[in-house]
Amino acid sequence: MSTTRKDFLKLSAAAGGALGLGLGPRTLDGQEAPSEGAAARYARPQVPPAPRRLDILVLGGTGFIGPFQVRYALDRGHNVTLFNRGSGDAVFPYLETLEGDRNGDYSALEGRSWDLVIDNSTSRPDWVEMAAEILKDQCDQYMYVSSRSAYADVSRVPMSIEAPTWTFKSAGVDPSAERLPYGLAKAESERNAMRIMPGRTTIVRPGLIIGPGDETDRFTYWPVRIDRGGEVLAPGDGSDPVQIIDVRDFTEFMIRLGEDQTMGTFNCVGPAVPRPMSELLYGIRAVTTAETTFTWVDDLGFLTSMGVRPYAEMPVWRPPVEGSEGFARFDLTPEIEAGLTFRPLAETAADTLDYHFSRPLERQENLRSGLSAEREAEVLQAWHAR
Ligand SMILES: NC(=O)c1ccc[n+]([C@@H]2O[C@H](COP(=O)([O-])OP(=O)(O)OC[C@H]3O[C@@H](n4cnc5c(N)ncnc54)[C@H](OP(=O)(O)O)[C@@H]3O)[C@@H](O)[C@H]2O)c1
Repeated sequence: MSTTRKDFLKLSAAAGGALGLGLGPRTLDGQEAPSEGAAARYARPQVPPAPRRLDILVLGGTGFIGPFQVRYALDRGHNVTLFNRGSGDAVFPYLETLEGDRNGDYSALEGRSWDLVIDNSTSRPDWVEMAAEILKDQCDQYMYVSSRSAYADVSRVPMSIEAPTWTFKSAGVDPSAERLPYGLAKAESERNAMRIMPGRTTIVRPGLIIGPGDETDRFTYWPVRIDRGGEVLAPGDGSDPVQIIDVRDFTEFMIRLGEDQTMGTFNCVGPAVPRPMSELLYGIRAVTTAETTFTWVDDLGFLTSMGVRPYAEMPVWRPPVEGSEGFARFDLTPEIEAGLTFRPLAETAADTLDYHFSRPLERQENLRSGLSAEREAEVLQAWHAR
């Protein structure tokens, strides 16, 4: 995109306060500018400015979580620069995008400096190593998006950052292996960042990130299924705990950690008191008008025999069987003290449904997670007949 067009969009985005109203940027002739993804529509409309303006470099920034992070940072008054292979111009045309490749082309970063670098876009330890080595003298703080999957042991109740993360040894993986399992890759990436920038690193470990813009449909399955009405297959007896995180709660927390220059490691799930699966499903039902009933199938053996696995076919749900008792029982006291907040479930559920119905019909009919209507009916029939 030419500089002139960028400036034009920048100017028009600022004019009229369109961003502040959450309407997304508009060109001077009133047309909506290229998207910002779901963030343009579902970010919080009004936020107070931060006490200090930061220069932030976002590695990535144009996928699922990135746009919400960038939008919140802009709303707080920060300067944001993106680094990616070029999608920045399409998603945030009025921002500076430095083009490069995490595979080794970081030349666009030369001679620049930032208060905060946010690394969204990788689960590859070598990519984190390269970026942190290059940026260690060019930034004050390096924030890496890890995952709850970095934990090798989720049996503790409550869970905290003290639980061990995967190592090559505990994962039984040869250090020369080309591809690492996701959890080990995240844990190794964390270690690389902390080794290269000791005392200046912030690690965030989100659980399942949900809400508008999520194209994995893992949480989305539930609002969509419940909104369809009828008898819904619900896993367990309703008491199994759930902790997940709205993409906006997660990304806003990250920006606040940067504003406060908070270093350390933080779990990112919620709510603080784990929500039983029944509360989750009844809470979602409350934002629909469908006539829905739940049939709780509290026999894990039956579900498994029907090919219905926790988390895979019954998304979000992971029963606290031996070894995963703490999966959804995190003590979030340190995170809440550091600024983590939680939206009401109703807001997440309603916005997720709204986002879902804004997608093309073909996409709406082909969810990427959960059970098809036919499979669900089969399992329910077998359950009633057993
Ligand atoms: N979804 C979940 O439930 C969940 C849970 C736990 C943790 N996480 C973590 O959260 C993060 C989610 O990422 P997101 O997709 O939402 O992030 P994002 O930063 O919004 O999007 C991914 C970005 O990476 C850039 N990118 C990809 N390959 C690149 C390359 N070779 N060089 C430079 N840039 C590259 C893409 O831009 P270009 O295509 O233009 O290069 C894009 O901007 C991941 O680290 C994931 O592991 C997710």
